[in-house]
Amino acid sequence: MTNNSKITRLLTELESRRTRHLYRRTHIADSPQQPHMTIDGKPMLVFCSNDYLGLANHPDLISAFRQAANEYGVGSGAAHLVSGHSRPHQQLEEALAAFTGRERALLFSTGYMANLGIVNALLTNRNDLVYADRLNHASLVDAGLLSGAKMVRYPHNDMVSLGKRLRAQEADTALILTDGVFSMDGDVAPVKKLALLAREHDAWLMVDDAHGIGTLGETGAGLLEAEGLSQDDVPILMGTLGKALGTAGAFVAGSNDLIEYLIQTARTWIYTTAQPPAIAAATLASLKLVQSENWRREHLQALIKQFRTGATQLGLPLMPSATPIQPILIGSSEQAMHLSRKLEESGILVTAIRPPTVPPNTARLRVTFSAAHTAEDVERLLTALEKHY
Ligand SMILES: Cc1ncc(COP(=O)(O)O)c(C=O)c1O
Repeated sequence: MTNNSKITRLLTELESRRTRHLYRRTHIADSPQQPHMTIDGKPMLVFCSNDYLGLANHPDLISAFRQAANEYGVGSGAAHLVSGHSRPHQQLEEALAAFTGRERALLFSTGYMANLGIVNALLTNRNDLVYADRLNHASLVDAGLLSGAKMVRYPHNDMVSLGKRLRAQEADTALILTDGVFSMDGDVAPVKKLALLAREHDAWLMVDDAHGIGTLGETGAGLLEAEGLSQDDVPILMGTLGKALGTAGAFVAGSNDLIEYLIQTARTWIYTTAQPPAIAAATLASLKLVQSENWRREHLQALIKQFRTGATQLGLPLMPSATPIQPILIGSSEQAMHLSRKLEESGILVTAIRPPTVPPNTARLRVTFSAAHTAEDVERLLTALEKHY
């Protein structure tokens, strides 16, 4: 293939994405993560961040970050098994284990890498089976595909179908994979039933609670805390730090044996530079606020209620979600883009989520709330939606 024809192929794909209203672009922020931001040079009221508790720009996190940067510098310099595992990393792993009620936790640099690393460490051949909810996050899908295990996808939250699929085949190792809170829908997985099925079929159960950690449960320990599920019920809990905890990175929590095994085998943990120690120190500060400032979750719930009541009165197609992810289902990518653009013109940023992130014909505005939003912010969103929907 000549250079020209290679580039032509790329340009054809880009053009096709444009005509199908699937083209994506970045926005440039000139302010911290918070409801009122400067984006692309304009003031914007933002309803699409995952900073659910409003901690990304909290003074306690900034001060912990600064102090650790003074003490440890900026870069971690190496992988955890080399010289990159610092005291703040160790303290954070211990704090995360205590927070989630698990024996031990292991830090990863991102949630995407955590999912790839955990799944690929556990599944090693074609006689292994991975059972994945159809609406799982892309990183779980990719983790299953990369593992080389046979991938069985079951209809969203359909436990009868999952049960049938589990009965249909024998596996060397079986792993059930699910989002805790579904990232683009906001509903939650039936984790109690999943735990029973996993036990019945001697399968591993892994819950990716990226959006539940911080937002659900009495102390913010997520969906499994809210549902009272222990390490025995759900042996693999994965959570991210870049959303409600306001920093960056991820962790897996489980038994000491599981974590030791991952330390020896999870390639995305072994062969990568540890996250900066100052991030771990900031996350420790964040964990304290998550656990002690219950008002953040209470305020979030009040905002969600206010939005759902107002949106229902306006006849907006909401989805069945009780979490800070409150999508408005539009269907066509073109219409979702149109509405997103109109809101942007009114100074409100809500991104349109389109295929392949969501299934065909289910494009949506993924509205998210933060404890830093006010009732007036929500009112402004509702007024703009009334005008433009
Ligand atoms: C459910 C879920 N899992 C994993 C990830 C990836 O986490 P990270 O952004 O830390 O890579 C995300 C989103 O980013 C997510 O929504």
